Amino acid sequence: MKKLLLFFGLIAFCCSCTNEKKESLILDESNFETTYRDKAVHLYTLKNENGMVAQITNYGARIVSLIVPDKSGKPTDVVWGYKNIKDYLSAGDIYSGPIVGRFGNRIAKGKFSIGDDDYQLTINNEPNHLHGGFDGLYDQVWEAKPFVNEQGEKALKLICVSPDGEDGYPGNFKISVVYTIKKDNSIAIDYVAKTDKPTPCNPTNHSYFNLHGTSSKTIDSHILWVKADNYTPTDSVLIPTGEIATVENTPADFREPTAIGKHINDDHELIRFGSGGYDMNFVLNKKRKGIEIVASLYEPENGILMEIFTDQPGLQFYSGQGMNGKDIGKRDDVHHKYSGLALETQGFPDAPNHSNFPNAILNVGENYEQSSIYRFRVK
Ligand code: BGC
Repeated sequence: MKKLLLFFGLIAFCCSCTNEKKESLILDESNFETTYRDKAVHLYTLKNENGMVAQITNYGARIVSLIVPDKSGKPTDVVWGYKNIKDYLSAGDIYSGPIVGRFGNRIAKGKFSIGDDDYQLTINNEPNHLHGGFDGLYDQVWEAKPFVNEQGEKALKLICVSPDGEDGYPGNFKISVVYTIKKDNSIAIDYVAKTDKPTPCNPTNHSYFNLHGTSSKTIDSHILWVKADNYTPTDSVLIPTGEIATVENTPADFREPTAIGKHINDDHELIRFGSGGYDMNFVLNKKRKGIEIVASLYEPENGILMEIFTDQPGLQFYSGQGMNGKDIGKRDDVHHKYSGLALETQGFPDAPNHSNFPNAILNVGENYEQSSIYRFRVK
């Protein structure tokens, strides 16, 4: 009997340790209570029954934490982020986890034309426009409504209105993004946008993933697979030349699962233009319009596998070479080179200036829609 009690006692102790561990990764929502741009900022915590927790703030519709179990069941926070709103607002790297846009990635010299009208956007990444400019969606406070969907899954709907002329963009632009924590440990991101004047539209989520759960280990060991035979080569300031080129014999060939570190230092234009890493757009092999699996990322050490599904034509891969050691993250992690990577589901960079790229102009009366899913499991 004593032995039995000891056994159950031990089990209870182990469970409480795991729970404690998990709880300690979850940030206190009060760390995010503030007012910014005259609007209230909050942090929302969404959980499912299978060990997945997402923390999302309405400041930039940003994923702050994404906690999933590794192969031993250990809760692991797989995104880079900060522990409070103060750190987000003072960070050197302003693109940790948010929705970027209206136009994610670059528009050459901030210029484009729609019909007979020429437009000039702000230049926030010399000599180009990047991720929506100075007042992009990532720096806005969104309206947020948590809800439970018909399948009983926890979700958060975020809405933002970007006024006509903001950062030079035409039209009042209204976007909603719904994050849903699904039963199968995936986070679904569903976007809908409308405008009252034709405008470039290419929003995406800009989370920095590190499947180790700590930046003390880099993303070099992650195994990446991307369903893309082609990519869009760029000039030295990362503007696409317009060519659709094969990935064959380039560091961008991830048609077979390959460790990211294998070619990250290759003497290749793609790596040089990326300033010592990947900063490139894959042309996804998509045969039909709907959502399908396009990429996966796997960390052999802890068995975490992330699978990406999207209905978008492109995937931007940025390997975090600009992370410069200055910002300090949630668990006092240092934001050093390659400590996180972005895999952004989207249209092609600079699409408004390339008639051979999929259209990225949203017209009046149309609905922009995007559905993307990041699913986590272990293998
Ligand atoms: C871009 C990079 C940029 C980074 C900022 C990526 O989406 O492709 O060029 O430096 O975002 O975090």
